[in-house]
Amino acid sequence: PLTTTGELITEAAAARTAVAAFNIITLEHIEAVVAGAESAGAPVVLQVSENAVRFREGRLLPLARAATAAAEHATVPVALHLDHIQSDALLRRAPDAGFGSVMYDASRLPYAENLAATRAAVDWAHAQGLWIEAELGQVGGKNGMPPLDAHAPGARTDPDEARAFVADSGVDALAVAIGSSHAMTTRTAALDHTLLERLGTALAVPLVLHGSSGVPDDELRLAVSGGITKVNIGTALNIAMTGAIREHLAEHPDAVDPRKYLAVGREAMAQAVARLIGVLSAEPAR
Ligand code: G3H
Ligand code: ZN
Repeated sequence: PLTTTGELITEAAAARTAVAAFNIITLEHIEAVVAGAESAGAPVVLQVSENAVRFREGRLLPLARAATAAAEHATVPVALHLDHIQSDALLRRAPDAGFGSVMYDASRLPYAENLAATRAAVDWAHAQGLWIEAELGQVGGKNGMPPLDAHAPGARTDPDEARAFVADSGVDALAVAIGSSHAMTTRTAALDHTLLERLGTALAVPLVLHGSSGVPDDELRLAVSGGITKVNIGTALNIAMTGAIREHLAEHPDAVDPRKYLAVGREAMAQAVARLIGVLSAEPAR
């Protein structure tokens, strides 16, 4: 059934676990995430980024309607979330398109401007009954940003600044920069667990990990036990889908029916989803 991110986060926080949130680009992503979550027996968040809307030539409803239908028919709770929204016009389409939550991303701006823009977004979102996440510090690797930026000291979220940001903006959750970076195709990110602990102590709101595709399993488990309550995953699904399709087409050079290779790509994504959800619910190895 369709639920909200706020609901899932509250339950995850109480159980000291994390909700997996997967970025969807195609109909196959939607089907794969729901199938993977069903086989893992866990709730899941389907998230649509501003980049995905741009890929759909500005259209939000095709993905939103498909995701809503998939959520309604799922045997596990599924929430719909708008991810990395910079456009106020897109933000304002969230409720009508069926989204119960949004991530408003003004993290590229200097602190005072990020706070002012986020505060305005929060006021609007809360008046609509939406749960809203924002970002402070900057998780690298977005839109061609050099991925190494995330590993620069300046990109990290400062706990004192974060405490003030959360209090002054009223956000429901905070995306923190602790060493992960977007769009990594190797799982080599090293998280700053000491910083995560300090952020957990400083902040009363749930913390969100972005760029989780580049984070090794053990690091993910440690992050969840360290207080990360929402884990955003995109690239891992694209690696699974594209790899499986590439292999299939190499083996079947005469293939023309997209159903054949999309089915293979979809299955590979569903397996990746189920596996990653399993990682998040397992106890850390060390
Ligand atoms: O908001 C989306 C996530 O941060 C996805 O990052 O594609 O590196 O897994 P990723
Ligand atoms: Zn992200």
